Amino acid sequence: MKVVTVVGARPQFVKAATVSAAIVAAQARGVALEEVMVHTGQHYDPNMSQVFFDQLQVPRPKYNLAVGSGAHGAMTGKMLGAVEQILVDEKPDWLLVYGDTNSTLAGALAAAKLHVPVCHVEAGLRSFDKRMPEEVNRILTDHVSELLLCPTHAAIANLKSEGVSRGVHHVGDVMYDAALMFAKVAGPAADVLARYGLRAKSFLLATVHRAENTDDPARLDGILTALANLATSACPVFLPLHPRTRATLQSRGLQALLERNPALLTVEPIPFLDMIVLEQQAKLILTDSGGVQKEAYFQRVPCITLRDETEWVETVEAGWNQLAGADRARIEQAVAKASPGRAIDEYGAGNAAERVVELLLARPA
Ligand code: UD1
Repeated sequence: MKVVTVVGARPQFVKAATVSAAIVAAQARGVALEEVMVHTGQHYDPNMSQVFFDQLQVPRPKYNLAVGSGAHGAMTGKMLGAVEQILVDEKPDWLLVYGDTNSTLAGALAAAKLHVPVCHVEAGLRSFDKRMPEEVNRILTDHVSELLLCPTHAAIANLKSEGVSRGVHHVGDVMYDAALMFAKVAGPAADVLARYGLRAKSFLLATVHRAENTDDPARLDGILTALANLATSACPVFLPLHPRTRATLQSRGLQALLERNPALLTVEPIPFLDMIVLEQQAKLILTDSGGVQKEAYFQRVPCITLRDETEWVETVEAGWNQLAGADRARIEQAVAKASPGRAIDEYGAGNAAERVVELLLARPA
């Protein structure tokens, strides 16, 4: 059996690392399963891409489409044509995609048009906000997929309400697999913290990259003002900056927002192995990333989500996560109230990637 995997953005390299490891384990047991990795090039800066391949042992891509950045339609269109040609040449039994990026949609659409069955890992997640590019990507990908592998039961219910129930399975969360797998190989906490000049449980970890926040000056101002207000010399705010956020601040002349308080520490995007340790050691996490919301829970650190909704509703229901939007006062209040919540029994036992491989193999080639 041959699987073509399409990845392109930072979180997809992490997710693919878990399933690729399960594929390699199956091969070692004598299972005839080949994976061909395609990198669309959506993320291309070395610290947004290559470092993940190096550290997490993601198979080297056979194809790199090098599409780079661009408007959504232009970017997705370039990927679509290139993936189509690869599928014609490779003739795979499956096309495998993760999550909700433009790379996910391009891969799924190219395959569906060629009648190559699509397996979507992280199917069924919804924010119910179609202004988010990710929501459009998720809905369209799910509706052309044959195998829809869900991380939560809420995702299964979302698909059911859209009339999709064939090929739907709850497999758990490959990001949980990744958290367990890579915690073992991450550096000692003391070393990682020393490298970034931080002390255990005495810093807040923040990330901001969503278009809805970076492209709206009022929202970006609200978030960064809150972070500057929260940062103290005893408990700084540590903010690895996505290139999109840095570029927006520069182009809008908003860099002063980062310079108001020296305890608001900004750095370039950081590798996943460092990120796991920083999440574990943070006092609190503030983020607009889907993955980081769950990683906060995996490390049992309370989270404040800088959005008005989340796809990971169980983190909020269990009390680990609060939605604070981009309003300065709401964010500061949420930080004051943050506390641990209840256990969540949704994300599996660290074997979601194995389940993905089992379900791929269950289809007659
Ligand atoms: C994309 C995904 C988002 C995911 C995120 C993970 C879509 C629609 N969004 O958002 O779901 O959470 O990846 O990080 O696919 N840039 C660089 N260097 C890079 C990559 C990007 O400078 O290596 C800058 C460029 O200015 C680019 C901007 O970041 O225009 C946005 O990149 P893009 O890939 O469009 O979206 P992300 O915000 O990264």
